[in-house]
Amino acid sequence: MDKIVVKGGRKLKGRVRIGGAKNAVLPMMAACLLTRGESVIRNVPVLADVITMKKVLERLGARVALRGHTLRVDTSTITDHEAPYELVRTMRASVYVLGPLVASIGKAKVSLPGGCAWGPRPVDLHIRALQELGARIEIDHGYIVAGASVLKGNTVVFSLPSVGATANTMMAAARARGKTIIVNAAREPEIVALADFINRMGGKIRGAGNDTIEVEGRAELSPAEVRVIPDRIEAGTYMIAGAITAGEIELENCVPEHVEVITQKLRQSGVVVEKSRNSIYVRGKRRLESVDVVTAPYPGFPTDMQAQYMSLMTIARGTCVISETVFPDRFTHVPELRRLGANIKIDGNTAHVGYIKRLSGAPVMATDLRASAALVLAGLVAEGETHISRVYHIDRGYEAIEEKLGALGADIKRVPE
Ligand code: EPZ
Repeated sequence: MDKIVVKGGRKLKGRVRIGGAKNAVLPMMAACLLTRGESVIRNVPVLADVITMKKVLERLGARVALRGHTLRVDTSTITDHEAPYELVRTMRASVYVLGPLVASIGKAKVSLPGGCAWGPRPVDLHIRALQELGARIEIDHGYIVAGASVLKGNTVVFSLPSVGATANTMMAAARARGKTIIVNAAREPEIVALADFINRMGGKIRGAGNDTIEVEGRAELSPAEVRVIPDRIEAGTYMIAGAITAGEIELENCVPEHVEVITQKLRQSGVVVEKSRNSIYVRGKRRLESVDVVTAPYPGFPTDMQAQYMSLMTIARGTCVISETVFPDRFTHVPELRRLGANIKIDGNTAHVGYIKRLSGAPVMATDLRASAALVLAGLVAEGETHISRVYHIDRGYEAIEEKLGALGADIKRVPE
């Protein structure tokens, strides 16, 4: 296992290119199962999670080739309908094959994903929605076993705007007979991107990005070509890298409106953020002010940015109150930040982040994808060296992070543990 060693104190300067969105490409890869033939997905980030989804599709009989940042997914021959535990437990997004498999071949056997570092990650909304479209589903020895001779359009009302459940339902409904209306749908840009891809296949999805989505089912869908939207969480992470080091960086190939709420919070804390059509300029400064945050489904402050933002707030004046309403236990980064000297108190799903003049480097451990990004960000300003172990977490969601930060002037390297 590798670790990342960061020597703090450098101001980041320069330009960084944002890659394709992990949380868009994963459902899009699963959506290829709705068609028979070869689809092409461009601007794909080279990440561990993309490789895992590639393995899941290959396990089902698809042929998947990743060359550079272009993915070719040929689903001409689907020979199996099982997503096994050893793949699903490494990446819960494997559950995205459930809807497309039931819709296209009438059956699926997908391992329950189990929990993650910060608690249970249920899929009850996915299952109930597919049942409302006519699938018969049972849980057998840790597997979701689903079958349906045909799926029928219906109205599906979510108790909360689940991203994954919205994606799975939209994909299944795209091949169902008749019309489906999804109420209280997730509004994330990744859902809009998935709907766009399915529409390119010949689907008929309207309203993606709003809380009500209409899907006209189609008997057949055809392979399509698409380019993945920029990753708004990668963009937000680099915005904070520029802010926390009091540096000056330009993010290229991003969508400013997808990170609007992060821009607002950074500006309120004293960071200069200037937007143009597909780039964002960030200039940090030494003495930032604390600005409270409550995470919420899009377009609210993303839960996937909570840990990174907390790193920034450890050195902002005053006390910052961060409430995590999407995944209440998503604070595994807090004990690690405390090892760097941060002054953080947890009260239920709320963190009270006090001020400290300077973090100090120490060995810390990554526990999940965004927590590891938060530790890298803290290491950029901590006095001395920060050693971050278990960096396989970070490789799930950030392509070439040490190269990109190094090119901006950070003193960062990856070494064998
Ligand atoms: C997606 O996860 C993202 N993953 C997560 O990003 C992100 O944190 C999350 O959406 C919220 O934005 C991918 O897109 C691959 P949810 P997902 O269903 O779909 C509860 C990252 O760092 N819930 O919107 O699993 C759930 O427990 C990852 O890139 C149910 O109760 O999130 C949570 O409290 C981490 N039952 C809330 O809904 C269900 O059936 C929102 O979860 C499904 C979800």
